[in-house]
Amino acid sequence: MVNRTAIRVLLIEDDPEDIELLQRYLRDDARHEYAIGTAERLEEGLARLDSFKADVLLLDISLPDSHGISTFHKAFSRAPDVPIVLLTGMEDEKLALEAVKSGAQDYLNKREVSSRVISRAISYAIWRKKAEDLLKREALHREFIANASHELRTPIAAIKASAETLGRSLTAPNPDRELVRIIESQAERLRGLVEYLLDLSMLESGQRPALPESISLQAFLPEFVAGFGLLAKKKKVKIDWKAPPGFKVWIDRSHLDRILQNLVDNAIKFSPAGGEIHIEGKPSGEVGLISVRDSGVGMPKDQIPLLFQEFADKAARRTKGRGTGLGLLLVKGLLGANGGRIEAASSPGKGMTFTFTVPLGR
Ligand SMILES: Nc1ncnc2c1ncn2[C@@H]1O[C@H](COP(=O)(O)OP(=O)(O)OP(=O)(O)O)[C@@H](O)[C@H]1O
Ligand SMILES: [Mg+2]
Repeated sequence: MVNRTAIRVLLIEDDPEDIELLQRYLRDDARHEYAIGTAERLEEGLARLDSFKADVLLLDISLPDSHGISTFHKAFSRAPDVPIVLLTGMEDEKLALEAVKSGAQDYLNKREVSSRVISRAISYAIWRKKAEDLLKREALHREFIANASHELRTPIAAIKASAETLGRSLTAPNPDRELVRIIESQAERLRGLVEYLLDLSMLESGQRPALPESISLQAFLPEFVAGFGLLAKKKKVKIDWKAPPGFKVWIDRSHLDRILQNLVDNAIKFSPAGGEIHIEGKPSGEVGLISVRDSGVGMPKDQIPLLFQEFADKAARRTKGRGTGLGLLLVKGLLGANGGRIEAASSPGKGMTFTFTVPLGR
């Protein structure tokens, strides 16, 4: 299909023959239309940048007023948002590669150019620049979330501590006690949210990579389950576990702990008194499978996919709990960092099963 929106090419090149040739190649390209601007000197070209509104810069690196890699650096610092394709001679190929490492999108050897080659280089350069910008924006976004979460920790801790102190000083019939209790519990909820956000952004940015090790579930689970003793007793639920001897998984120990903490915490939260929770580990082909099954309220099948979706409808993700609604997202992120995946199954009223895969231990 012919694209009728002209691509605006600013060609900075001093050799009249090359200018003529490149213009002809662009005219011969049947797939795109080009609006071409030319300049023979770097300064002249850079001065035209804004008014010309170039979609792409074709830049000869040897110009009357600039030579070598500094030609690229000057253009890049003046036009960081415009994709740049360098035009080189045989002898500058090393320089051009260096420029590509510093942010140029591509380079073309002028002696090897054809209509097809130049057309493709221009399209790729434009798309590559868009993709690079998107990645850069995502990284900035993650960094912003990490910084903001970090900054929020201190004031939230101060609110919590002040509310606790205030709460202790108010004695029984004082009606303000309820208000202070609300401040305290909401500050705690806020703290949980901020911790999840911080953890998720650390995981996504790779700042806190997984350090996997071989873990025997027969050794890990008894202590893990014992840690829930008090809560299970209070909620009158039973937790048991089973895993074959010698079954090992390859995962970061603190991540395994947090994944299971979140799943068992949910299972307890959504189970009635007298409920049962089963944790089971077993090998399945090339991977290990670990499941947490409860006999609680469950959830409708059509809502299950939303559980692991970022920014999914909050109503679907947090119908019954009083938590942050981010626990399962963190679980998914932690598993991703360890080469695992999670699935959920449920029949309403009959409970829920979360099953995740992890690489086998050695
Ligand atoms: N075992 C379960 N049985 C029934 N519903 C569940 C179960 N586990 C999760 N859910 C549903 O999925 C929602 C999201 O769970 P998730 O762990 O992400 O957040 P949360 O438990 O609400 O908050 P937090 O984990 O911060 O305490 C829950 O609010 C609940 O509606
Ligand atoms: Mg939870």
